[in-house]
Amino acid sequence: MAARKRASAPQSVKEPSPKEIDKTHQIKSPVTDDPPIAPPKSGFIFKLILFFSIPYLYLIFYHYKIDLELRRSIIINAGLSLVGFFVTLRMIPVASRYVIRRNLFGYDINKRGTPQGAVKVPESLGIVVGISFLVLAIVFQYFNFTSDSNWLVEYNAALASICFMTLLGFVDDVLDVPWRVKLLLPSFAALPLLMAYAGHTTIIIPKPLIPYLGMDVLDLGWIYKLYMGLLAVFCTNSINIHAGLNGLEVGQTVVIAFAILVHNVMQIGASTDPEYKQAHAFSIYLVQPLLATSLGLLAYNWYPSSVFVGDTYTYFAGMTMAVVGILGHFSETLLIFFFPQVLNFLLSLPQLFGFIACPRHRLPRFDPQTGLLTGTNDGTLVNFFLRIFGRKTEKSLCTYLLVFQGVFCCFCFLLRYLLAGWYK
Ligand code: UD1
Ligand code: MG
Repeated sequence: MAARKRASAPQSVKEPSPKEIDKTHQIKSPVTDDPPIAPPKSGFIFKLILFFSIPYLYLIFYHYKIDLELRRSIIINAGLSLVGFFVTLRMIPVASRYVIRRNLFGYDINKRGTPQGAVKVPESLGIVVGISFLVLAIVFQYFNFTSDSNWLVEYNAALASICFMTLLGFVDDVLDVPWRVKLLLPSFAALPLLMAYAGHTTIIIPKPLIPYLGMDVLDLGWIYKLYMGLLAVFCTNSINIHAGLNGLEVGQTVVIAFAILVHNVMQIGASTDPEYKQAHAFSIYLVQPLLATSLGLLAYNWYPSSVFVGDTYTYFAGMTMAVVGILGHFSETLLIFFFPQVLNFLLSLPQLFGFIACPRHRLPRFDPQTGLLTGTNDGTLVNFFLRIFGRKTEKSLCTYLLVFQGVFCCFCFLLRYLLAGWYK
């Protein structure tokens, strides 16, 4: 997206003449004519943090008897995540000035025709989240792993994949690669994890199918690794194409990340197998920082957005969730949490595979007079919702979609509860 934006860089950001270049090198802080971004929506984020942390802390401290050692690691990780939240909150305005100076910005399409639609919104702020996340995930090893820990290899391979994905996302933001290439980027980023993965490659056959297949465990071998790669491609791209409304990219990640955390705590609380508990604890160590840093970004990206997250963020978040689903061995549950993304993907298939023309942006039509969005014929969940529920403001449509996401996460918990003992 940025390459196109660079071409249309407005006059306010003046290109330096050769003579001026020496002077600009001495400039310490990025100075542009653009006003600073709007302050974070702190009240809204504070309410969200309360909403998430009260039930979560209840589950960890009261509802389940979690081993002290494990609980200690979870709390240290939560403390680091809180630091990550504040660092993200603090660094986004700073990074915004730098990206604007480099003409990395976008116009808010759903405000076209209003004064807000002419404001340059800094793009790719997911880079701040990605860097904060990686720093604290790396530092966390100091508190949790001994040098002979078996988890170290997979943990670092997971971080390498997330880091590679963040880099490729940023490359996409800067170069605006064609979407068919975009689709492939996550398969490269998943390579560190696929190569280092030494865990089992077996799947447990659902109980109702055992009489037909004659086995209760099936070793998939290399097909399991192929499945892991495909899951990474799906999670990253499905977050990226369920987008285009202020707060939707980060909002869906926040809802799914919270559901993953609750699922992990429930599994740890209900199990007595140390290896199983470790797999879910591993997931918590990556998802807590993801949730905290994403909330820092949401403070600026919620309606009306003062920053855009870029493909840097959507790829980073999708890859992190894919990695925890793979290494935590709960990819089926993850796919149910991703149900709205699956639905959006299915609706998108005719356009993605070229049966129907696919415009650069598949967004609703905005009416500047009423401030309402109307659904278009583009195959997205956003348009589908508008066609079903009628015209909406951008904020209420995004809220509807996030509630829908939350409802599916709750449905997943209900399904697991109903099928427990019968399915696996
Ligand atoms: C994906 C979608 C595209 C959608 C875009 C929005 C597919 C195949 N691609 O493309 O249809 O339009 O995401 O992110 O489904 N923007 C807004 N408001 C927002 C967020 C983004 O107007 O709340 C606009 C801005 O101009 C921003 C641009 O979208 O600069 C970012 O688009 P980008 O993430 O590069 O699009 P894709 O991921 O390629
Ligand atoms: Mg995108």
